[in-house]
Amino acid sequence: MPIANAFLSAEQLSEPEYTFNLKAGFCESCFMAQLIDTVDPNMLFHDNYAYFSSISHVMDQHFADLANTISNKIFYDETLSVIEIGSNDGILLEKISGYSSNTIGIEPSTNVAAVARSKGLDVISEFFNEDLAGKLFAEYSPAQLVVGANVLCHIPDLNELARALNIVLEDQGVFIFEDPYLLDIMSKLAYDQIYDEHFYYFSITSLSNLFERHGLRLFRIEQIPVHGGSMRIYGCKSESSRSVEASVVNQLQTESDYGLSNLESYVAFADSVKKSRSSLVDLLGNLQNEGKRIVGYAASSKGTVILNYCGVGADMLEYVCDNTPSKQGLFTPGTHIPIVSIDAFAADYPDYAFVLAWNHMKEISEKEKEFHSKGGRFITHIPEACII
Ligand code: SAM
Ligand code: TMP
Repeated sequence: MPIANAFLSAEQLSEPEYTFNLKAGFCESCFMAQLIDTVDPNMLFHDNYAYFSSISHVMDQHFADLANTISNKIFYDETLSVIEIGSNDGILLEKISGYSSNTIGIEPSTNVAAVARSKGLDVISEFFNEDLAGKLFAEYSPAQLVVGANVLCHIPDLNELARALNIVLEDQGVFIFEDPYLLDIMSKLAYDQIYDEHFYYFSITSLSNLFERHGLRLFRIEQIPVHGGSMRIYGCKSESSRSVEASVVNQLQTESDYGLSNLESYVAFADSVKKSRSSLVDLLGNLQNEGKRIVGYAASSKGTVILNYCGVGADMLEYVCDNTPSKQGLFTPGTHIPIVSIDAFAADYPDYAFVLAWNHMKEISEKEKEFHSKGGRFITHIPEACII
């Protein structure tokens, strides 16, 4: 599997492409689901990181709600000191700054961090780790809040992360993380969440085990719909006065009932994923045999997994269109399909658009009503391939 976000220029197409063995495993001791072989984070998060958080209006609204929740339901304090890990282009940090005068973002990908700085935000371009936590503790006041969206699962050494949290957090401080949720991945067959950047696929069971080993604990969880099904976790130091809420206890029971602590559940998931792949290959093959024009919609990281795992290449998809300007003109990793603008899609509608970012399906279908009204149809692939 190539790196999911390593889109290629025309010149790079003739060069050897980095690939690794994409395999997910499950630990029967601590119940963590995770990658077996991993890619060095320096190869993933750098000066040319492809994902700009602000491309999605839905995510923008989602983070406005999170900032509001933080301000009104967790803290009531304008002097709140906040560290955001993985602040990207500042989509959340900017909103939190509206409520708190003391915020700092940690963002190792320098290109997206530069966008956040251009909005006047304070960002350190380094990986959040124990070393940086020591420096932050020495230079700033302890954090009342550490927050991170879609970043915890991007950090390969979670034991170090927990130690770093302990360093920067005030004794009564809170951490909030949101990441794709394992139960959603399993129940929706969302295997395309499994790729290089996602070192882990969290359950509340596995996260509770992790944090307990480090004197931390969860006190509240909320299921949220973004990115195809995520979990927002609220945690604190073990000795904090915050009491554990029913949401945590109930979700641990739900996970146990589903079988998330049993290897057999993961083996069954793998079998279903193979069937899902067959349904997609059959559907696209049949449409191609009928002479239909098919394109991809959204050059997402998940798309790289789908296309490479299912063997869908430039012979099947004419192009992939995407609204991120920096991806246009490049080619999809591994499968080398040209990426074009949404304008190019609108200029000459194909018969079918295979949506490679099913998590953004609602937003995309609302934008593309004209495509649909002119007879175009979307294809989606999980749990089974279908035309909508
Ligand atoms: N928080 C944003 C959001 O939810 O849209 C960005 C999510 S993006 C998938 C993950 C971000 O985390 C990237 O911008 C990446 O550079 C950053 N990142 C990865 N490892 C990190 C680390 N150890 N410390 C801080 N940020 C990290
Ligand atoms: P991701 O799944 O890796 O987050 O990438 C999502 C991709 O989807 C990103 O490259 C932008 C693209 N996209 C569109 O092209 N149109 C849209 O309306 C949305 C929401 C996303």
